[in-house]
Amino acid sequence: MISGTPLEGSSLGPQAGRPMPGGQLDTSHRPILYLEDVSVSFDGFKALNKLSLYIDEGELRCIIGPNGAGKTTMMDVITGKTRPDIGTVFFGQTIDLLKLDEPAIAQAGVCRKFQKPSVFDKLSVFENLELAMRTDKRVWPTLFAQLRGEQTDRIGEVLQTIGLADQRDFRAGALSHGQKQWLEIGMLLMQEPKVLLVDEPVAGMTHQETERTAELLLSLQGKHSVVVVEHDMEFVRSIAKRVTVLHEGTVLTEGSMDEVQNDPRVIQVYLGG
Ligand SMILES: Nc1ncnc2c1ncn2[C@@H]1O[C@H](COP(=O)(O)OP(=O)(O)OP(=O)(O)O)[C@@H](O)[C@H]1O
Ligand SMILES: [Mg+2]
Repeated sequence: MISGTPLEGSSLGPQAGRPMPGGQLDTSHRPILYLEDVSVSFDGFKALNKLSLYIDEGELRCIIGPNGAGKTTMMDVITGKTRPDIGTVFFGQTIDLLKLDEPAIAQAGVCRKFQKPSVFDKLSVFENLELAMRTDKRVWPTLFAQLRGEQTDRIGEVLQTIGLADQRDFRAGALSHGQKQWLEIGMLLMQEPKVLLVDEPVAGMTHQETERTAELLLSLQGKHSVVVVEHDMEFVRSIAKRVTVLHEGTVLTEGSMDEVQNDPRVIQVYLGG
């Protein structure tokens, strides 16, 4: 008979690495991305002002904030496009992203989806994914011949994830705007990123495409850490767990969608401009 479950360790704060049976330390919920006191100025204007942000492994985080809040600049800093004047940016416990250039950051597993899809229109959906798997594009023609079963399986998996299995042999140029965006996400997934940054993913999408994108991003959590910047509040609500509000280059508040939307300071910055 079961006579009460032991709850040892249950009173520990979530930030303390949770002891696992056998004494191992569970690090699965520790932040995978750390930004601390990051400032960026453009001609004296502070686009980021002592921004601190922590993203957990496997988390889906939404970032909102009025125009000019610094959302895109934050992604530029994480991906190495913009160097901060000051601050710390770490990937996991040990990788200092400020010491790596853009390609090295992508290689390490921090990938970014840009708004304009960069798919190859003349190639099929399948071929685009195949190409994305290669880290060194110069040698791809010779590697094509060596595509292994395992890699074909991976492409099949990604086709399912992005909902384009039925379109695998379509030319990418023939896809709708939304489908091209999903293909681009698929191309990033081929590189098995640990962190995926997406800036305004549903801009220009139909309502149905927006809903499908919500499902797609939700399906990625757990396997990848996903940071989504978006202005479409209905969309954010549909995927949100933890929401961070940026304003004037820093975190105004963080919490559930309901918490942040009812926060008078958030209402003020959206209405007051
Ligand atoms: N390269 C740059 N040179 C000068 N100013 C810049 C540069 N990049 C961004 N800024 C300024 O920094 C501020 C933050 O811009 P950013 O693009 O990060 O905002 P955002 O939150 O992404 O806004 P939006 O919601 O409109 O996309 C803005 O005032 C912008 O004009
Ligand atoms: Mg932006």
